Amino acid sequence: MTTETFFDIFLVFWFVVAGVSFFSLFKTAAPYGRYASSGLTKTIGNKLSWIIMETPAVLVFAASFLLGIHTHTLAALVFLVMWEAHYIHRAFIYPFTLRTKDKRMPFAILMSGFFFNIINGALNGGYLFTISGGYPNEWLKDPRFITGFVLFVIGLIVNRSSDRVLRNLRPPGESGYKIPHGGLYQWISCPNYLGEIIEWTGWAIATWSLPGLAFAVWTAANLIPRAWSHHKWYRQHFSDYPFERNVLLPGIW
Ligand SMILES: NC(=O)c1ccc[n+]([C@@H]2O[C@H](COP(=O)([O-])OP(=O)(O)OC[C@H]3O[C@@H](n4cnc5c(N)ncnc54)[C@H](OP(=O)(O)O)[C@@H]3O)[C@@H](O)[C@H]2O)c1
Repeated sequence: MTTETFFDIFLVFWFVVAGVSFFSLFKTAAPYGRYASSGLTKTIGNKLSWIIMETPAVLVFAASFLLGIHTHTLAALVFLVMWEAHYIHRAFIYPFTLRTKDKRMPFAILMSGFFFNIINGALNGGYLFTISGGYPNEWLKDPRFITGFVLFVIGLIVNRSSDRVLRNLRPPGESGYKIPHGGLYQWISCPNYLGEIIEWTGWAIATWSLPGLAFAVWTAANLIPRAWSHHKWYRQHFSDYPFERNVLLPGIW
């Protein structure tokens, strides 16, 4: 079996697993953050968990670039910068901004994030820098790249600014929950998730690749059910939760 055939078969499997995850996460929310159960014994400190979980995304993608065959174009470099702009922040800055006093993450969640990031980084990096045959610099002028890039940047800004609103709800040392206000929270419960979904949809369009699409599908499969759980959770826990606020799509859902 050639590497390309294995790659294609694995991608099909990967899309199927994303679909299964989507439906099962509607049944049971991933048990971290507000859904973490105090009964679990195998847990790791929250900040350290985020660092361990997200570091493979930084390293595997960078290694794919360094070991890749088609990396001598500006287009390849732009993809590297886009990816690392997200993941260096997620792995090495975001965890230190969290105000999650004494919170712990189940080992199983940490491991699933860790292996997801290895596979996802290898699929995207392996495809972009080797299997695809390379992206010429003209690709940077292609409407698909430009549209995807703009979406990626908008998504990144929405994700980061919305995560910042959540962070600022808690004075240092506190761990309770409040109703978020401001920005897109005026209309929806989880704009940080909407931003992340827009970001990786932009990536899928900018790379015009099946691994990019798989990542966007996985992001939606993880975050659409979680946004729905958060929305229900807010409604259950706050009697004054704004009635008109939607889950993820302003005015629609
Ligand atoms: N690409 C993907 O598939 C994927 C998957 C998962 C996450 N992510 C990204 O990772 C980031 C974190 O995800 P997450 O699921 O942990 O997000 P989250 O549930 O919105 O929580 C983010 C942070 O804000 C705190 N927080 C949330 N709501 C709060 C409230 N009402 N009052 C006070 N504090 C509040 C949380 O504390 P607690 O921890 O104490 O709840 C946590 O520290 C997001 O940017 C998300 O887009 C991406």
